Amino acid sequence: MASTRIAAAIHLPRRARGSALNGRAGRYCGVVQSSSRPSYSIDRLWPDPATGLALDEAFGDIALPPAPAGRPLVGVNMVTSIDGRAQLAGTSERLSGRVDRELMQHYRAAYDAIASGVGTLRADDFYSHLPRAAADQRVAAGRTAQPLAVLIAGGGRVPTDRRFFAYDDQPRALAVGTSSPYAATPLPGVEMWVAPTVIPQPAWLLERIAAAGCASVLLEGGPHLNAAFLAEGLIDELYWTVGARLVGTNALPMIAPIPGGSPWAEHPREGELISVHRSGAELFVRYRFGRIG
Ligand SMILES: NC(=O)c1ccc[n+]([C@@H]2O[C@H](COP(=O)([O-])OP(=O)(O)OC[C@H]3O[C@@H](n4cnc5c(N)ncnc54)[C@H](OP(=O)(O)O)[C@@H]3O)[C@@H](O)[C@H]2O)c1
Repeated sequence: MASTRIAAAIHLPRRARGSALNGRAGRYCGVVQSSSRPSYSIDRLWPDPATGLALDEAFGDIALPPAPAGRPLVGVNMVTSIDGRAQLAGTSERLSGRVDRELMQHYRAAYDAIASGVGTLRADDFYSHLPRAAADQRVAAGRTAQPLAVLIAGGGRVPTDRRFFAYDDQPRALAVGTSSPYAATPLPGVEMWVAPTVIPQPAWLLERIAAAGCASVLLEGGPHLNAAFLAEGLIDELYWTVGARLVGTNALPMIAPIPGGSPWAEHPREGELISVHRSGAELFVRYRFGRIG
């Protein structure tokens, strides 16, 4: 997906697409639009099969369903290996290829807020800042240029040297628990959300996200944060990239085991298949889940 990083505006170094970001090519890092941008061939397998689509044709208009009553819509965006692992050597890097990294910008552009657990930021130097073209499209549609970037921590360290904190034109919020040192010493340029609990709870997080004017939030992991939302039945959409790789490890899956046992262990959440695309050997699958309450 197209991506003009605002490198010029904030004097970040431009990188060639697919090249290492901070030495590593991360799924959650932006991509750079250039005149030599390669075109990807996407096949839509379901519904309405079609072959040879450009990325923009296949994913340019990700229509979200209406938000459930009383809270924002929650999407989850994850990549796993074929054997279901969401980490490769401790990060999400190299689980998928360039198409997936570009596709992520389309998913992000559709949402009002992008949220991640701090465990993911500790592992990956990710950021959700949209490229210029996507930001311009949002503005033309009467939306904010950039989604609200929400980092969800508990009481632990927040790696403030990450590029998550680098983009001054993107609103940012840091949610922390009561025992977090950041509750008493907020970070500059970041709206602080201090939960009434030691670990921020999903329903409270959604209240804060709604209060910030967001009708939708895309969770980009990690597996423990995903588990907290699933535990409360608060996942409405899933965007799942199946990276064409086998790893055979005991790395975390897309959703970590829910602490204390899953309420869905006997009666699982049933997904409705919304679409399936492929590019090369990778699959891009979208599911929708029924609403709670
Ligand atoms: N394959 C993918 O698509 C994908 C996507 C994202 C991440 N990942 C990988 O997953 C790993 C990180 O995931 P993770 O599961 O360890 O961490 P995580 O879910 O990103 O973050 C967990 C942390 O979030 C904080 N937190 C706040 N509220 C929480 C709540 N209600 N429930 C759970 N945690 C809450 C806690 O921070 P404190 O420690 O401060 O208390 C907790 O330790 C990395 O290896 C990353 O590369 C993969």
